[in-house]
Amino acid sequence: MRTIDWVDDAIELVDQTKLPDELVTLRITDVDTLIGAIGRLAVRGAPALGVAGAFGVVLARGDAAQIARLRAARPTAVNLAWAVDQVSALPPEQALEAALRIRDDDIAACVAMGERGAALLEGERVRVMTVCNTGGLACVERGTALGVIQTLHERGRLDEVLALETRPLLQGARLTTWELARMGAPHRLIVDSAGPYLLGRGGIDAVLIGADRIAANGDVANKIGSYALALGAERAGVPFIVVAPESTIDESTPNGDKITIEDRDPSEVTRVRGVRLAPKGTQALNPAFDVTPHDLITAIVTEKRVIKP
Ligand code: MRU
Repeated sequence: MRTIDWVDDAIELVDQTKLPDELVTLRITDVDTLIGAIGRLAVRGAPALGVAGAFGVVLARGDAAQIARLRAARPTAVNLAWAVDQVSALPPEQALEAALRIRDDDIAACVAMGERGAALLEGERVRVMTVCNTGGLACVERGTALGVIQTLHERGRLDEVLALETRPLLQGARLTTWELARMGAPHRLIVDSAGPYLLGRGGIDAVLIGADRIAANGDVANKIGSYALALGAERAGVPFIVVAPESTIDESTPNGDKITIEDRDPSEVTRVRGVRLAPKGTQALNPAFDVTPHDLITAIVTEKRVIKP
């Protein structure tokens, strides 16, 4: 299954807001609908946003205003702006070919990251912890950190995955568990705040996460909660490994302080899937990402190399 693809002159993508209850494919033929889908996280995850941006430029047919709005649809994952810039730099008649290349490169990169990441992990069988969703749903196929986990599972090396639920939008509880169940990989779901404690309790061989933007100095922006896991992993002496394609490395951003962190609608915190939790009128703050400083990161695995920041 491909999370996002170009089919008969339109984008087809899995509507991730409907998972795990329904597997629904949306067909998108205009840029405004695509921007709406990105905003409500029907399509999400840095590499998938890159592919969405690339195909979106094809739909924009050279309209500069539409391209600019698409580029800014979400600010933190650099893959979106990167892919929009790559494709829009070409004449419109070459856009589709370039966008298809970005899709195919992402598929190949995920296979390569899976190999490299699995090779990096020591031990015959491993127990790993992960946050958010970094699987095929966040890319086109297989995924980044979850792609490494899939490779480990295919080789009989995966003992168990502990998946953080990932409040507030529950990408871990809804999407990562769905993908792990489909691949038949052993897993248990934990609340986000149990992550650092369980690392200290022992028996976990590595934390594997994805990235939305990697600054030139190796600082990593990723889903909120990643920084707490990195601190817990450091304290417990557990390797903290980031898996991301080269397109997520942003050499023009010198360090994590310069990464724009998306603050999302406070109602995502006070409500869960439409059900109000907090008293009416409660104010909330909702940063979607955090930044893990490079000195807490054991290794960054890309399709080409292993970087030790
Ligand atoms: O808000 P989301 O669901 O788009 O956030 C996604 C993440 O934080 C992922 O970890 C990241 O994009 C890497 S996905 C391979």
